[in-house]
Amino acid sequence: MPDTGITKILIREDEIQQIVADLGQEISDHYQQAGGELIVIGLLRGSFIFMADLVRKIHYPLVVDFMAVSSYGDGTTSSGDVKIVMDLDESVEGKHVLLVEDIIDTGTTFKKVIRMMQNRGPKSLRVCTFLNKPSRRKYDVQIDFCGKDIPDEFVCGYGLDYAQKYRNLPYVGVLSV
Ligand code: IMP
Ligand code: MG
Repeated sequence: MPDTGITKILIREDEIQQIVADLGQEISDHYQQAGGELIVIGLLRGSFIFMADLVRKIHYPLVVDFMAVSSYGDGTTSSGDVKIVMDLDESVEGKHVLLVEDIIDTGTTFKKVIRMMQNRGPKSLRVCTFLNKPSRRKYDVQIDFCGKDIPDEFVCGYGLDYAQKYRNLPYVGVLSV
């Protein structure tokens, strides 16, 4: 394996493209039915690559914004402490909000972000995650659009990091730590 620390490729590049295309189709269908203004919000930094690919597969007019929260330190286990590091520029009031996440693990991060977003009066709030680790869930999170369920392994690549590294890998790999 050329990338030190990656022991196995979990999702190949071509599989990722298929997952994103399918999600884009599902999301397009949903908002074409619903109508109204759509704002797609990516949680930084993990979602940036997924978000870039996903919005190009959504065939519906939309606005993009980003928000940064932190729940993990530089390790692989959740500290449970969620902080808002960077807030949105746009107002979400009266708009359809689609929250885009790289991975939902324990649900700690998302639970807090969803609650905060609901308080801002969106017309609707939907959640899209590239990856999902259901076996690790501590808080119930409703996922409307899910790319792929994965087992309880620490993964990197396609935006996902370990200590801010590996985000640039074009595939999703399992990291041995
Ligand atoms: P949660 O709050 O436990 O759901 O964690 C969500 C955040 O933890 C994600 O946005 C990721 O940044 C990070 N995370 C969780 N699992 C992994 C993983 O396997 N690889 C890389 N980051 C992860
Ligand atoms: Mg991360």
